[in-house]
Amino acid sequence: MTAEEVLSEVLDQVSPSDEEREALHEAYESVRERAVETLDQEGIDADVTLVGSAARDTWLSGDRDIDVFLLLPTELERDEFERVGLNVGRAVFPDGTVEYAEHPYVQGTEQGYDVDIVPCYDLDSTDELRSAVDRTPFHKEHIRGIAEEFGEGYGDEVRLLKAFGRGAGVYGSDLRTRGFGGYLCELLVGHYGGFREVLEAAADWSPQVRIEPREPEDGFEGHLVVVDPVDPSRNVASVVSEDSFARLIDAARGWLDEPNESYFFPEEPEPMGSEELSEALKERRTRLVAVVFEAPDIVEDQLYPQLRKTRRSLVEELERRGFDIIRADEFADERAVLLVEANVGEQSRVEKHAGPPVHVREHATAFAQKYEGADVVGPYIEDGRYVVEREREHTKVEDFVRSDAFFGVGMGKGIKEKTKDGYEVFVGEDCAPLLNEFGVEFARHFEPTA
Ligand code: UTP
Ligand code: MN
Repeated sequence: MTAEEVLSEVLDQVSPSDEEREALHEAYESVRERAVETLDQEGIDADVTLVGSAARDTWLSGDRDIDVFLLLPTELERDEFERVGLNVGRAVFPDGTVEYAEHPYVQGTEQGYDVDIVPCYDLDSTDELRSAVDRTPFHKEHIRGIAEEFGEGYGDEVRLLKAFGRGAGVYGSDLRTRGFGGYLCELLVGHYGGFREVLEAAADWSPQVRIEPREPEDGFEGHLVVVDPVDPSRNVASVVSEDSFARLIDAARGWLDEPNESYFFPEEPEPMGSEELSEALKERRTRLVAVVFEAPDIVEDQLYPQLRKTRRSLVEELERRGFDIIRADEFADERAVLLVEANVGEQSRVEKHAGPPVHVREHATAFAQKYEGADVVGPYIEDGRYVVEREREHTKVEDFVRSDAFFGVGMGKGIKEKTKDGYEVFVGEDCAPLLNEFGVEFARHFEPTA
């Protein structure tokens, strides 16, 4: 198949049908009616508007998110603004939940759609931004302009880019993905001129990539800077991680080289079985250690940053203690797992510990005195410093994670609480009981792809 043929098949799958469009707008109208009614009752003169990809007709078929904004008068003080926002949300969705971003908002379901009801200020210009979401209605206007200029097919080009990004695991500005959000995808299509043009550019990206529809107000850092055309103090790509940036580059090169549908719809690996696990470990001769605990009941936008932070500090601490960690992952379902694969799982009982240079008299003397008569080898002198060889505190990775020292690792708050309640440690083949819940994640660990 040619690239064009593949893309047209992909479009068939990711473009919403007329029925899907109708259903979405029906759900929205019903929400809107209830919101307007409540605002009337409250005596507040405010518009209700649909924003995001649903408003711009750029969503991927099957996505069931509707973002509804309440454009509240600027006279409202901050707490009144929040109160009204919540009241309207609760009136529309008595069973809804309150979520917290910069300010609270209500989330509910309507006819199978996940609907956010978000209050923002009704502004004339973005010079007066007062809350983090005040830009969003301006994004809608701005993208409308880009789409008009682009002409026919803008929505399709955006959907192709979103679907391609999804296949590469980099679509979404949430803190689990740390990738390319919907609005960013739309700006990229507008800037480069289409799906293919974005990929051709991305294939040659080298940091720092700067897209500046306006003179930026900040010396932005990071590999990718896309100045928000409605607010030059903001980099729309600020959440894009270094790895997401690299993944898009890699996938773009692959697609341009050999286009096929698998970039859009990659197959999930088969879950790993216990025999495969044994074999992999036998072959690699590494030490696999899993720390397992109940996943904290927090939103993904908090959970994954906390897990990442904990995994990073754990690896740092282990390496500080002399272990050589090949790779570590984190994943969560009902339970959460920190998975560490060490080059060698067991070190000698000896830890080499260097003191100050001998010529730094005060410190050097204190060091020598501290170890005088202690059960150590040395102090001896090496490279001008005092050195001792003392007994290593933990010779095995699993001993360290089982000890109290494990809690010295920098953890996210939710992770600390849950591990304090208790956690289990699995080693090597004994990780097999985790495969039921995490077979796919283990498969990915042993056969990572870009
Ligand atoms: P969404 O993340 O839902 O994006 O945020 P989207 O444009 O609707 O695209 P989909 O859902 O991926 O198809 C809704 C709006 O909130 C603003 C943008 O205006 C976006 O269109 N937003 C969201 C940002 O400006 N930055 C963000 O990180 C997230
Ligand atoms: Mn959306």
